[in-house]
Amino acid sequence: MNIDFSVKEAVIKRYSVRNYSQREIESQKISSLKKFIESLDNPFGSKVSFHFLDNATLEKMEKLGTYGVIKGARSYIGTTIKLEEMSLEALGYEFEAMVLFLANLDIGTCWLGGTFDRQGFSEAMNVGSDEVFPIITPYGYAADNKHEKELEMRHMIQADHRKDWNQLFFDGDFYTELTEDRAGDVAFALEMVRMGPSASNKQPWRIVMKEGEFHFYEYKELGYSDYFSYDIQRVDMGIAAAHFDFAVKEKGIKGSFKNVTDLEINLPENMNYVFSWIKEK
Ligand SMILES: Cc1cc2nc3c(=O)[nH]c(=O)nc-3n(C[C@H](O)[C@H](O)[C@H](O)COP(=O)(O)O)c2cc1C
Repeated sequence: MNIDFSVKEAVIKRYSVRNYSQREIESQKISSLKKFIESLDNPFGSKVSFHFLDNATLEKMEKLGTYGVIKGARSYIGTTIKLEEMSLEALGYEFEAMVLFLANLDIGTCWLGGTFDRQGFSEAMNVGSDEVFPIITPYGYAADNKHEKELEMRHMIQADHRKDWNQLFFDGDFYTELTEDRAGDVAFALEMVRMGPSASNKQPWRIVMKEGEFHFYEYKELGYSDYFSYDIQRVDMGIAAAHFDFAVKEKGIKGSFKNVTDLEINLPENMNYVFSWIKEK
């Protein structure tokens, strides 16, 4: 996979588009999207599959249903995995790469993990019964205005707000905040994580910097994932990994993701270790 666009510009451009115009996407953009999806990979080693639903009639789309959340969209992409260690993170990483790729082409998307008719879409996209189907997104050009329900939703989940650094990033332990100065050349990558999308905008990612290593934790909201057979906030962790990875690569900083087992960091309640990024010395 080759990210040949500005990570920062794509991250800033991306927002959840829930109202779509009827403007056709140029065929050249569609073919570059398909090529990009074929090239996707992830640092967690789990396979992620993509499924397409193109140019469905609006009538059909309305029957499939997103509970009135998405309007005007006729094309969707869904993604499936086998439920295994790190596969939700792998999904988050690859799907967000695609979302940023589309944002760079001025094409809107909206991560949907809850508000869609999973059964209807899995039939329309020929998803196998042995596959776990956590996420879909509509894609297309945004309409000129946001629809009413969309405005209500954005207000309710404070979609334009992000937590401050001192709530997300820590220095050595969970009791010391990390400053941009101390983060040094990795500060940009952390800022890209901070700006990312997450389910209900809960921003569950917490990162502890320790001796050139960046340890990623999930601050798990109790009960939030009860509705699912998996922890949807682990998808958010994959999104954080993607933003971080693309940003360090853009800055030419070398390192890789690893699972570190012997960390001596005291954990606050509901804090779960997920993975680390180790800077090359
Ligand atoms: C894993 C995941 C699942 C999401 N599920 C839904 C959903 O079911 N319905 C919805 O309208 N938005 C959903 N969102 C979008 C978030 O609400 C949105 O990203 C967040 O509020 C921040 O707003 P922004 O994307 O405009 O920056 C989801 C986002 C993520 C990352």
